Amino acid sequence: MPAKSDSMAKPGLTIPIFNTYISPAAADEVAKVLQSTFLSEGSIVKAFESRLAAELGLLNPVAVNSGTSALHLALVLVGIAPGDEVICPAQTFIATALTIMQERAVPVFADINYGTGNIDPRSIAEKITPKTRAIMAVHWGGYPCDMDEICAIAKKHGLAVIEDAAHAPGASYKGRAIGAISDFTCFSFQAIKHITTGDGGAVCCRDENNARSAFAKRWFGIDRFNSRPSVLGERQYNVSAVGYKYHLNDYAAALGLANLSGFKERMARRRAIAARYRKQLGGVPGIRLFSETPDRESAYWLFGLHVERRLDFVRALLERGVTASVIHQRIDRNSVFGGLRGDLSDQARFDETQINIPIHDALTEEQAEHIIKSVSAGW
Ligand SMILES: Cc1ncc(COP(=O)(O)O)c(C=O)c1O
Repeated sequence: MPAKSDSMAKPGLTIPIFNTYISPAAADEVAKVLQSTFLSEGSIVKAFESRLAAELGLLNPVAVNSGTSALHLALVLVGIAPGDEVICPAQTFIATALTIMQERAVPVFADINYGTGNIDPRSIAEKITPKTRAIMAVHWGGYPCDMDEICAIAKKHGLAVIEDAAHAPGASYKGRAIGAISDFTCFSFQAIKHITTGDGGAVCCRDENNARSAFAKRWFGIDRFNSRPSVLGERQYNVSAVGYKYHLNDYAAALGLANLSGFKERMARRRAIAARYRKQLGGVPGIRLFSETPDRESAYWLFGLHVERRLDFVRALLERGVTASVIHQRIDRNSVFGGLRGDLSDQARFDETQINIPIHDALTEEQAEHIIKSVSAGW
């Protein structure tokens, strides 16, 4: 292990783990919507959806007010019923599995691959019972899951696939965009994600009928664009199934549209920083890089590593002005899910050693260099 170097400390200048990216054009674009006084869901939401499809290759994106709403809507469209089982990883944010419980269904936690933090298809296969209805796969930190294997298991057992791509806009798997592969893919546009609308999300549906249902269900089950007002002024509709107030607003979509400009350049920069980290940190004693294969491209919402003596690592980096964080611990231990589960051996190993170092749009070249030096100096 290299010697510890305190001379690298930068007091008062701690590099944060995340930033919130706001395009310089955003303030004007949002102001235009505010000045129009049409704040709710309208033409700007439509424009945002078209731009998401064009820029990121998403299939039928339906914009909603959060990534959590997108996941819930996908489960509703699958037709998840009370008592059904949905297989998901524990290495995620609590939202993933809570949406399953919102339908009174049961999250069944599968193990992950230690090298990536992504759900392990072999563990999915072991967890299938006659009650299983769907697989919810999370692209942890933006690195795509083993989609071929997951879709093959789903096909064999007649299950739906829902991708939680909150961390993965712009990622790709075997040349296909995340958002155009399985039945449903859900994105988050929350404040610290790659593309923010303040809060927001999108559910992408392979099947156009599902997309049509999603458009209606995001606003109470009413077809907002095709239901005309009567002479008395009331919109004419017949709601035939439960809907939700999950629509995105035009001022939020204006922020999202502005932030979509230059997305590809921002992603290329993130990837260049990740490549530098991988090249220069791979050989540092006490570090194991996450596994990557050339058939997929991460969106690098996170840059994760496995480290020995993690607490010492975090403290040493903090002394040198660098934040390191686990971001999310496994979620299956929350009492809402019924207590300890504990049969996830790779998850248990991951819990002990995973850590993330800063990677985001505001990170300067100098800061990236400082992070590399700070890690290389040892702990
Ligand atoms: C993996 C994952 N899924 C879902 C969500 C929920 O997204 P939102 O905050 O937009 O509801 C998050 C949020 O951080 C997340 O990290």
